[in-house]
Amino acid sequence: MERFYPDELIEEVRISNDIINVVGEYIQLKRKGKGYFGLCPFHNEKTPSFYVDQLKQLYYCFGCGNGGSVIQFIMAVENLDYIEAIRLLADKAKIILPEGEDGEHKEIAKKKIELIKINVEAARFFYERLNDTQNSTVKGYLKERGVSENISRKFGIGYSSTGGDALYKYLKSKRYDDDILLESGLILKSKQNTCYDRFRGRIMFPIFDLRGNVLGFGGRILDNSQPKYMNSPETLVYNKRKHLYALNFAKNSSHKTIIVVEGYMDVISLFQYGITNAVASLGTALTDSQGRLLKKYTEEIIIAYDADTAGMNAAMRGLDLLNNLGCNVKVLQIPEGKDPDEFIKKKGPGEFNTLVNKALSLVDYKIKALKNEIDTNNTDEKVIFLNKAADLLSKMDNDMEREMYIKKIAKEYEISQESIFAEVLKRIKPRMGFKPVAVNVEGKGKIKWSKDKGQFERHVNNERILLSLLSIDNSLYKLVKDKVTPEYFEDEDNKKLAKIVFERLEKNKGIVPAELINLAEGKVSNIFVRLIQGECNFDDNIKAIMDIIKKTDLFKLEKREKEILDLLSSLTNKKEETDSLKLELQKILYKKKSI
Ligand code: CTP
Ligand code: MN
Repeated sequence: MERFYPDELIEEVRISNDIINVVGEYIQLKRKGKGYFGLCPFHNEKTPSFYVDQLKQLYYCFGCGNGGSVIQFIMAVENLDYIEAIRLLADKAKIILPEGEDGEHKEIAKKKIELIKINVEAARFFYERLNDTQNSTVKGYLKERGVSENISRKFGIGYSSTGGDALYKYLKSKRYDDDILLESGLILKSKQNTCYDRFRGRIMFPIFDLRGNVLGFGGRILDNSQPKYMNSPETLVYNKRKHLYALNFAKNSSHKTIIVVEGYMDVISLFQYGITNAVASLGTALTDSQGRLLKKYTEEIIIAYDADTAGMNAAMRGLDLLNNLGCNVKVLQIPEGKDPDEFIKKKGPGEFNTLVNKALSLVDYKIKALKNEIDTNNTDEKVIFLNKAADLLSKMDNDMEREMYIKKIAKEYEISQESIFAEVLKRIKPRMGFKPVAVNVEGKGKIKWSKDKGQFERHVNNERILLSLLSIDNSLYKLVKDKVTPEYFEDEDNKKLAKIVFERLEKNKGIVPAELINLAEGKVSNIFVRLIQGECNFDDNIKAIMDIIKKTDLFKLEKREKEILDLLSSLTNKKEETDSLKLELQKILYKKKSI
């Protein structure tokens, strides 16, 4: 994990942002006992299992296992990296972060600003080339495709001339270095070491971020030659997996939904007909990051991909991805092999809106896709269909909706509702047993996990409980410091954490659970949240930590005992060695008794 700021400053930022207030800006929280509950923003659910603990300043979802401090929450919900999350939270709390302290960070920040400046210059340059009075062919092309001057201006559409280095020369006249120009992706270097323009003879679509900065470009060729599109590469400012074309406009439209289409031209055409809530995923499959971004701005997402097989497959994947993120998502089907651009031009916005209203829900769409796969006159295939449909229905969590579908399918295929229901029920039961049951979150309940863990895993877990307990109650340190040192920890990650925790406590600096969670990285931090929220709610922390130490001591002794026994059975001649091992074994047995 990259860290630019000193730990104390990060702590100040964290402490200055009460987790209840911050989470409360995203989801509705209801007080329940010592904590707050709400609907998890990270997975789809209808009953709240997202828990926020004000005292410990932590959140944890009992449904999907996501958890952490306010920092991890902002990272996940805003789709930011660690440093960006710190900056956002610092802004909220009006804490000024030092920009000049860290050389590397300052360098990157400066470069990003420079790259955006270059992109803006380029966008202007392309725009002017398009609007040169001589340039009637390109304007003619846009006109033929029905793009009005107004819309063209709004989207900043431009043109890159066919010459080899017009943009390069222009940017050089603005005194940019070759290095940064190459890094922008707009300029390439030939084998002969001469610089030239990446985009030549293309209609240029600038890609904006939410604040209207230009991050990169897509360029479409005017004829049928290949490649049809050329795009800016990944740069310090542009990551195609994280952006959605036109979200800067769509987020401000008054519609409750956002329509996701495939291409630049689809967005632009729809916009021209007053459908201002479309964004494009730019020909790639939707990513998690894009999904979370969408979720932030809308309640309902409608996927309107091209009607070809590639588009339908992409729609199916997008559907699952968005549904798993807890979005309400539908699929709009464009008839007769068209894309939204062609359709709206031919049929107008009225008919397009009819398609929007007829968009299919996840289950409807999947059942329809299943139906298309089978021949309903063939009994075997019909059975396959019904089994798959039952799989699908068993995953729905709304009983009423489920019943509605069962009725529909029963009628269509002349099967009794009871037998479909029985199939669905078979699939629901085993699933319920799988969920970790959170028994009484506020109380002393422990989370029981259905799977039995391996011995070593249990040992690693005990080490984590030990660290968790120390963070919950710092006064335990003086009781355990003679028995336990960082070297005592066998798991490498735990050892690293223990070093920090012990150093802090030794210096009387203190450490709180939320900090421990921040220090633990990635998935491990979720485990710590689970422990701190669940398993570590002991009545008597002193007794608990002593028990844990006993358990870990015992584990270590038993491990060594086994090693010695193995060695003894293999060593045959060296008497000295055997004797000392036997002595050690006796000591171990004695120690085990005294525990
Ligand atoms: N795309 C790309 N590279 C390609 C083809 C497509 O990056 N070689 C991306 C572009 O972002 C494009 C989107 O995929 O907008 C959808 O592709 P397509 O449907 O072929 O393009 P349209 O936007 O519909 O363009 P047009 O209508 O001008 O053919
Ligand atoms: Mn198209």
